[in-house]
Amino acid sequence: MSRAIIDHSGTSRPDSFTKARYVDAGLLHDEWERVFCSTWLLAGVEQDVRRAGDFFVFSIGPEQILVSRAADDRLHAFYNVCQHRGLRLVHAPCGNTRFFRCGYHAWTYGNDGSLKAAPHREQFSQGLDLTSRGLKAVHVDTWDGMVFVHLGVKPEPLSEFLGELTGHLEAYRFHEMEVSDDQTCYLNCNWKAVVDNFGELYHVDFLHPQHRSMVDCCNDTVHLFRNGHTGVHVPGGTVNPRFPIPQEPTPILSGRLQEVGLDPADFSGRVLDIRAALAERKRALSDESAIDYSPFSDEQLTDAWQYNLFPNVVLSFGADYIWIMRARPHPTDPGRTEFDKTSLVRRPVSERATPLPRPSREVFEYDAVLRGEKSMTITIDQDVELLKDVQSGMMSRGFDYVWLSEEEARVKHFHAEWDRRMSGTGE
Ligand code: FES
Ligand SMILES: [Fe+2]
Repeated sequence: MSRAIIDHSGTSRPDSFTKARYVDAGLLHDEWERVFCSTWLLAGVEQDVRRAGDFFVFSIGPEQILVSRAADDRLHAFYNVCQHRGLRLVHAPCGNTRFFRCGYHAWTYGNDGSLKAAPHREQFSQGLDLTSRGLKAVHVDTWDGMVFVHLGVKPEPLSEFLGELTGHLEAYRFHEMEVSDDQTCYLNCNWKAVVDNFGELYHVDFLHPQHRSMVDCCNDTVHLFRNGHTGVHVPGGTVNPRFPIPQEPTPILSGRLQEVGLDPADFSGRVLDIRAALAERKRALSDESAIDYSPFSDEQLTDAWQYNLFPNVVLSFGADYIWIMRARPHPTDPGRTEFDKTSLVRRPVSERATPLPRPSREVFEYDAVLRGEKSMTITIDQDVELLKDVQSGMMSRGFDYVWLSEEEARVKHFHAEWDRRMSGTGE
C-alpha cells in the first residue's frame, strides 16, 4: 500500500477532540460567526445567474442570501431582507426579474439592490432617502462556474482563499458543465459529520463493498491545503488490491470499457491493464466525441477525485462530470443538516447550443432514502443511511471524544482549521 499525504499547509492536525462540536447547541452562535461568517461559502452555480435578471436564493444557517445578475451584467449578492420592516423579500428559490417587490408594503428594489420605490413616501416624517435604504450587500465572486459569497467585512480574495487547489483543478473547466440533477436531503446529523464522512476512505471497504471492484483505495494521494481545504484522488478503472484480483473485468469495469467502445473480453486475465487502456482510449476519442480531453492527465481521465472546500463543500468529479455537495447547518439544531448534491455533466460542444433543461431541486427526508424511494447514488445512500446513527451515538453518555487515524488525515486537517477559526485566530 502506498498512500501519499502531501501537506501544502504546514499546520498540525489533532488526533482527537471532544464530541461537543457535533452536539452542543451552545456552540452554534460562535460557529456561525467565526466559521461561516469568516469564509467564502459556495452559494450556487453560475449557470443559474447567467442572464441579466436571473436570481437565486441561497439559504444557510440563519441567513438567506439573494444572488442576482443586474441589467449591467454585474453579479450582486444581498441579504434577502426588506429594509423597511425586515420581511424576507424573495420567496421563490430562483427566477428572472427586473424588480424585487416586497409583499408587505410594496417597497420595490432593482436587481442591483437599489431601492426604486416606496409607497406614500411623504408619510415618512424623518424622510426616506431611497439611496440609503437599498438591500444590504455581501461580497460575491465566482470560480470556474461556481458562485461564492462572503458575509464578513473585508475578506481575502476568493482566489487566495482557495489557493493552490484551483491550479490542481484547472483542466476540468467546470464552467462548461451543465446541471443535470439537483437534490437536497435532510439529515439528522451535524453538518461536520457529513464533511468528515467525505474526508476519509477508511470506511470504504466496509460500508461500500462495491468500490473494491472499481477503485484502488490503498493507493490514494491526499492533499492538505491552507485554509482547511483538502483533496484526494484514488486510482480508478481498477480493483482494490486488498482483495484477490479477479480473472475477468468486474461488471463495473466492463461498463466503463464499453462506454468508450472497448471490449471487456480483451481484458480477460489483464484486469490491471484496464486503467491505462481507458486513459489511452479516452484521449483517442477526443476528436470523435468533440470533447477535448487533451488538458487532462491520465489520472484525471481515469481516477476518482474529490476535493473538499472549507468549510462545507465536497466536490466529487471526473473529466466529464462533477457532483457539488454541500452540508448546510441548521440555525438552531446541531443535529440537523441540509445536504445538497448538484450534479453537472459535460456534453460535446456541438450539443451545448441547446442547453439542458435546468432540473428543479428535489427535496426529501433521509427516511425516503431508507425506504428506497429516493437515491443519491448507491454509495451516498449508504453514507446517508448511517449518518443519523453517528449523531445518535455521539449524543450518548457512552461517547466522549473521537480518535482519528492517519487514514483520516483530511478529517484532522478540516478540524484543525475549524479549531483555528473558533479560537479567533482565523481570518
Ligand atoms: S417590510 Fe417590506 S415593504 Fe414593509
Ligand atoms: Fe462513504
